[in-house]
Amino acid sequence: MSLDLAHYCVFGNPIHHSKSPLIHAMFAKQTAQSMDYQANLVPLDGFAASVQQFMNAGGKGANVTVPFKLEAYALSDQLSARAAMAGAVNTLTFSDGAIVGDNTDGIGLVCDITKNAATPIRGRRVLLLGAGGAARGALLPLLEEQPASLMIANRTLSKALDLVQLAVSSDGSKCQIEAKTWEQLDSSFDLIINATSASLQSEVPPIPASVFASPCLAYDMMYADTQTSFNRYAQQYGAATRDGLGMLIEQAAEAFFIWRGIRPDTKPVFDYFRSKEG
Ligand code: ATR
Repeated sequence: MSLDLAHYCVFGNPIHHSKSPLIHAMFAKQTAQSMDYQANLVPLDGFAASVQQFMNAGGKGANVTVPFKLEAYALSDQLSARAAMAGAVNTLTFSDGAIVGDNTDGIGLVCDITKNAATPIRGRRVLLLGAGGAARGALLPLLEEQPASLMIANRTLSKALDLVQLAVSSDGSKCQIEAKTWEQLDSSFDLIINATSASLQSEVPPIPASVFASPCLAYDMMYADTQTSFNRYAQQYGAATRDGLGMLIEQAAEAFFIWRGIRPDTKPVFDYFRSKEG
């Protein structure tokens, strides 16, 4: 590694499709930072060793993606509150030999909704679909926006109930937090966030049409360069839709801020990726 550059990377497996190196290269250019950021393919049983090797070589920080976010959590010497709540880490900072773990996914989501989509969360009725890692990562940043209510709906009710318990124990606000299965949903929501992995299989959680308030924003945390099945479904019921491209770029911007102390302008990066879609 060259000593006059600050080195960063993203650890994952697979990693060849990752947009993070290009996103961070665009941020670095825009803000004139002397840094580089590489994709780092890690063997499935080699995460801790790869992190150690990168640190020893002078690496300053790293992002972590599938399937290593839980291992990154376990490996961290210190955790931010949002990483502790998420139970997963996507951003590592190496500081005097210590590994500091953070999770910028949830704040990336909230920032994309409130800033880029100009949709307030405060005082609104929010429906979060799914109760896996993606939903858990969104929980604390969503609650910090002080929605009027948060409904967590999941195929497996017990997992949604676990998330409610976690949310209630950490939330000092008066937000009403409940769990339901799809069939039990019987009211409407201003903001509906799909944090299930159903879109990966081109499936849609079978939520009733009555959940879509008018107006309503349906947000699919998944990003693909074609429209997701969830967003197509939501549009049938008059919802405005947004996919996870903005979240992807905003979570990267938050990591960049943690490392470099500068907030990059995310709009030109968002516009660039949108313009490349077929
Ligand atoms: P991730 O890290 O992407 O959140 P995960 O932790 O495996 O992945 O969680 C996947 C989530 O998507 C879960 O809420 C899962 O529901 P269950 O808890 O009932 O398994 C949900 N999910 C996955 N496939 C789904 C489908 N086809 N329809 C509806 N929900 C689905």
